Amino acid sequence: MAELTTTIGGFHFNNTIMNGAGVWCYDRKELSAVDTSAAATFVTKTATLAPRAGNPKPRMAATDLGSINSMGLPNKGLDYYLQVVEEFHQANPEKPYFLSTTGTSPDDFGKIFTKIAASNFSGLVELNLSCPNVVGKPQIAYDFAAVERILTQVTGIYHGPLGVKLPPYFDLVHFQQIADVLNQFPLTFVNTINSVGNGLVIQDETAAIAPKGGLGGIGGGYIKPMALANVRVLRQLLKPEINIIGTGGVEIGRDVFELILCGADMVGVATQLGKEGPKVFARLTEELTAIMDAKGYKRLSDFRGKLQVPEAREVAVH
Ligand code: DHB
Repeated sequence: MAELTTTIGGFHFNNTIMNGAGVWCYDRKELSAVDTSAAATFVTKTATLAPRAGNPKPRMAATDLGSINSMGLPNKGLDYYLQVVEEFHQANPEKPYFLSTTGTSPDDFGKIFTKIAASNFSGLVELNLSCPNVVGKPQIAYDFAAVERILTQVTGIYHGPLGVKLPPYFDLVHFQQIADVLNQFPLTFVNTINSVGNGLVIQDETAAIAPKGGLGGIGGGYIKPMALANVRVLRQLLKPEINIIGTGGVEIGRDVFELILCGADMVGVATQLGKEGPKVFARLTEELTAIMDAKGYKRLSDFRGKLQVPEAREVAVH
């Protein structure tokens, strides 16, 4: 039977599927449910320096094709997640975990990474540069100079394994610009994509969620083509030592397979995890394994990054 082990940086994982930050990762109880599922590991809810209540409700809605959310970074604060991840690490010293974090003001980044550097944390940090839902705050990673500034500061303070969570890009010039910035830094991974920001879902005559006049991040099946393209193009543009976590639109094992075909080393699941709960990881694992067995692929490296594109045939004017 095919095996699904993978590595990010020097860290080994016994599966290639994990949660995407924001779903089933708010507190110890939710993290424990993912930890004891078939998932490779977990990433925490994005932690800010201080705890936050987030945006007013309703702030999340599932639809047949995906989801919309404007949670507004509700979280229990960095100290809580550092403590909890350390507890999981003590219980499972062989299993690497991800801590997601972000700043809500420019001063935060130095404080956050000084704190992490001074803690016992020994996993991987996912710096979220793509939250679309904090009122009045732009998605940082659409501002390439800001990304460079923040990563210069953060990598000067913190020398452990570090990755960034990116928003989707839609223009080839932007892919090149973000890759040129990221390639200057000793990053372990990028996670692409976060939700597609500022979409609108209407139910009857009413927006599905309340914050920002109904606008929120779109996830699930709607965004799979954007996730595939972002994984594929960033794999071509980033230094090979930067691993990629592909996230966006995973509903079935075939979606995991396609993200890996585009170059993903690990795959994140968010909207479908919210709909189905942590048992989704066993189902996706089975479905991916069945696809690989049917194709005769024994390990992920047999097809990772090997997307084929049809040969272009010239067309005559007529
Ligand atoms: C939230 C949403 C995101 O897409 C993200 O990256 C971080 C936080 C939120 O609204 O809580």
